[in-house]
Amino acid sequence: MSGASIRFVLHGEVIEVDNVDPTRTVLQFLREDLGRKGSKEGCAEGDCGACTVVVAELTRDGDELALKSINSCIQFLPTLDGKELLTVESLAPDSSSLHPVQRAMIDEHGSQCGFCTPGFVMSLFVLYKTNPKPSRQEIDDALAGNLCRCTGYRPIIAAAQSMYAESPDDSDWLRQPCGKQDKPTERITRLKGLQRADGLEFDVAGRRYYAPVDIDTFAAIYARHPDATILAGGTDIGLWVTKQHRELQTVIYTGRVEELTNLSVMPAHIEVGAAVTLADVMPVIIDHYPGLEELFRRFASPPIRNAGTLGGNIANGSPIGDSMPALMVLGASLVLRQGDSVRELALEEFYHDYQVNDLRPGEFVAAIRIPKNEEAVIVSSQKWSKRFDQDISAVCTAYRLELDGEVVRSFRMACGGLAPIIKRARTCEAALDGKHWNEQNLERACAALASDFTPISDARASADIRLRAVQNMLRRFYLETRGEVDTTVYSYGRQS
Ligand SMILES: Cc1cc2nc3c(=O)[nH]c(=O)nc-3n(C[C@H](O)[C@H](O)[C@H](O)COP(=O)(O)OP(=O)(O)OC[C@H]3O[C@@H](n4cnc5c(N)ncnc54)[C@H](O)[C@@H]3O)c2cc1C
Ligand code: FES
Ligand code: FES
Repeated sequence: MSGASIRFVLHGEVIEVDNVDPTRTVLQFLREDLGRKGSKEGCAEGDCGACTVVVAELTRDGDELALKSINSCIQFLPTLDGKELLTVESLAPDSSSLHPVQRAMIDEHGSQCGFCTPGFVMSLFVLYKTNPKPSRQEIDDALAGNLCRCTGYRPIIAAAQSMYAESPDDSDWLRQPCGKQDKPTERITRLKGLQRADGLEFDVAGRRYYAPVDIDTFAAIYARHPDATILAGGTDIGLWVTKQHRELQTVIYTGRVEELTNLSVMPAHIEVGAAVTLADVMPVIIDHYPGLEELFRRFASPPIRNAGTLGGNIANGSPIGDSMPALMVLGASLVLRQGDSVRELALEEFYHDYQVNDLRPGEFVAAIRIPKNEEAVIVSSQKWSKRFDQDISAVCTAYRLELDGEVVRSFRMACGGLAPIIKRARTCEAALDGKHWNEQNLERACAALASDFTPISDARASADIRLRAVQNMLRRFYLETRGEVDTTVYSYGRQS
């Protein structure tokens, strides 16, 4: 592997950075090293969006560029290697020639104190470039990771609706300094020149960073350094550094490993490399299981989903992680690799206790296997949190129901937020298996949930409320299967 400088494009120039601490964040680098202070730090934990920047990277075939918003406050700088970084300063060369997004924000009074504005502008910039006619819901979804405490959002949404009417962004993308215009093809060529055939490796004051490009090398490095931290999207790990001030000695990055970033739809299952981002995998899962659409739309925010991975969600193993209940009821399994040996394990056998899983020293999640849908199977998931958007679940449930007429051929339910680990509700399931799918049996199943879980009280909900909530969520699922409730809770009085 080669090193030791990181190379990425900023403002039309290739930037090379030497001797960087592997966990220095992109935001620290922008503000403290470059004095590029448009991107702000609000929360330093991926919640507020004030630090939102955009990354352009080559698609897998290398022929196109994909634009993704990310939270620069929790993204480690070395992960930018081989990519292009766009900040709010990239959008317009001077204040007399604003980008249409910026012009619309001014015209619609979308900025008051201005602290959140650069982040909103960058999220809107991605929307502007990727969706020529967004619906109101698509605008809300695009802005789910940006908070504003001044405007009440109405003017920002008005700006999102009117930005297309401004004189168009006539550059292929945006302007470069001195009026220089870059065509996408030039950007692609430049980024191709930055790709590494043999990965990146460096050591700064004893702290090591590895970004291998193939799984054999990855496995060999991890076998040599079983105490290393595997870094995927960093949306959990970033907070260990910014909030818990943990020092990571050795970091091995998954994001460049070809096999770990593969996503394939096979005849019987979907094979998801552990480093495939949530943004990339969700549409594929929803395609097979439309009942999971709302869950995934409410999973964090676009910048978190653009960086965070399915493998990271599973390996992190939070008892309130959102993907696991659904994957468990679908019967997903994990491909685990340690050195040269590979084994497959059902996801529901992966978690032993709070933060304790089945991984052995030097072993990692290589892929997730999700069985494909069978006809006549109903799959759904419900997330209960204090806010609709960008909030961690208090309780998250998932269901898989197979009916033979009115009789339950098989029922699976899994829950997060009710125990130290996410797990199946076995007693509840048994109360329904082989029984009639009716209200009487449903009530027995609801009562059985009290034997499956002994929830605790915390800041999100009391134990009693959690149990009642999950019973009501099951009742809601029953009504949904009867067509008696709207399957989406989105509207909240908003227009579409
Ligand atoms: C603002 C915000 C909102 C969030 N909202 C949600 C939400 O709504 N729902 C939810 O479930 N989560 C949420 N999260 C948590 C987080 O985004 C997810 O858990 C995400 O999927 C983590 O993936 P990652 O790639 O960023 O993992 P990382 O942070 O890179 O890693 C997480 C853990 O997994 C380990 N790991 C990663 N890949 C592997 C591998 N291949 N093999 C073995 N170990 C591995 C790492 O070593 C680390 O221990 C949120 C986080 C933030 C900051
Ligand atoms: S500073 Fe709040 S999301 Fe980054
Ligand atoms: S304008 Fe003040 S926080 Fe949004």
